Amino acid sequence: MKPPLFITGTDTGVGKTVLAVLLVRVLRDLALQPLALKPVSAGDRADARWLALAAGCRAPLDELNPFHFRSPLAPLLAARQEGRPLRRTAVSAFFQKTIRSSAGRPMLIEGAGGLLTPLGEGFSALELIVDLRAIPIVVAVNKLGVINQVRLVLAALPPAARRRTLVVLMSTASPDLSSRTNIALLKEFFPPDRIHHLPRLRSKTGPALTSLSPGLRSSLIQLLAAAGIVSDCALRPSAKAARRQDPARFTAAPS
Ligand SMILES: Nc1ncnc2c1ncn2[C@@H]1O[C@H](COP(=O)(O)OP(=O)(O)OP(=O)(O)O)[C@@H](O)[C@H]1O
Ligand SMILES: [Mg+2]
Repeated sequence: MKPPLFITGTDTGVGKTVLAVLLVRVLRDLALQPLALKPVSAGDRADARWLALAAGCRAPLDELNPFHFRSPLAPLLAARQEGRPLRRTAVSAFFQKTIRSSAGRPMLIEGAGGLLTPLGEGFSALELIVDLRAIPIVVAVNKLGVINQVRLVLAALPPAARRRTLVVLMSTASPDLSSRTNIALLKEFFPPDRIHHLPRLRSKTGPALTSLSPGLRSSLIQLLAAAGIVSDCALRPSAKAARRQDPARFTAAPS
């Protein structure tokens, strides 16, 4: 099985769910039937609902979002307030069970908040990424200050996880002067092929329902190829149709 993709970020509200939903849609389009998880959340369960919708998952929400707490706080605190402190062993057990029953399907996991947001007793997304040997995807908003934010997150990751990391800069509704230069500047500090960016979606219907333009689809496939989840030949627009006709030309990258 390929390593899970762990979508984290420099902050809350940076576009993790938007990216996760888009990646799930492209993987489904390639007939790879991803599993999308939001293991820990606090506040509403909208993210888990979007992921379920995008993945076409009709299972109870608890199967993809098992550790949900009501207060819109860091999950560590929300869990304590409910008298249900969250232990790393419980989250690990959930992942092990899910991995066992995943039948090798690609797995996408959305964190909560940023990389070091306290999720439970003594752990954040960082520890889960290490436990799972996951590929971290660091989402950040393409605006002034993003270079510092991304470099701080990269510096917090252990070297082995950092080497696997991909960075995604999300276009903002109000770009500033730096938005045009951030990507080039970031490439001076991190391997250029590991830095990606996504455009602003115009649709008001949300990423789960908006149509994927060929350019957006291609950007998402390039990201999945950089993560080793699909091979570059998935860029052919007819990949799904080709797989149906000739399964031997399956587009998943070799394990
Ligand atoms: N590329 C984009 N195009 C259009 N809207 C976007 C894009 N990226 C983010 N947004 C918008 O920014 C807001 C925050 O995005 P999102 O919910 O994906 O962030 P998040 O990192 O998942 O937040 P949370 O920490 O609450 O899980 C949403 O309203 C979303 O629609
Ligand atoms: Mg989210």
